[in-house]
Amino acid sequence: MKISIKMKKALNDQVALEASASNNYLAMASWCEVTGYQGAANYFYAQSDEERTHLLKVVHYLNALGAVATIPAIKSPASSYKSLEGLIKTALKNEQTVTTAIHKMVEIAQKEKDHSTYAFLEWFVNEQVQEETKFETILQKFDLLGRDKLGINEIDKFLAVKASAPSEPTV
Ligand SMILES: [Fe+2]
Ligand SMILES: [Fe+2]
Repeated sequence: MKISIKMKKALNDQVALEASASNNYLAMASWCEVTGYQGAANYFYAQSDEERTHLLKVVHYLNALGAVATIPAIKSPASSYKSLEGLIKTALKNEQTVTTAIHKMVEIAQKEKDHSTYAFLEWFVNEQVQEETKFETILQKFDLLGRDKLGINEIDKFLAVKASAPSEPTV
């Protein structure tokens, strides 16, 4: 095997984190859909798909090294949220957790002089900067547009536009 047992475990843990992110966003999308936030629903369905592509990147990387990825069981996500703002706050927290995990892997790769994993992780480091920024930007909209029905409707429209702009990598 071309990577250490420790690195393999960290990457497999990352598969589980991405799977859980995908599942969480799917649950968020579903809640938004039944609550009447169609723009936010579309946005989070797309986020869920995006997280699945992250998961696949790690699975393919492990398999290519002959390390064999472990496909994890996923815990049930929350099925309801107090508000759209609360939901976005949860999404940001999840992304911060993922960022921490990725940074820890980078440190392991550096310590072990595992240059291939270090290079592989670079994409994820950059991606997490975008992921956190996009949820911070959405949260800022609640201050800018308000938390009353009209404000939330504007935020939902903003998310609808973001969801229908596939060429744009993120927010
Ligand atoms: Fe991700
Ligand atoms: Fe993410």
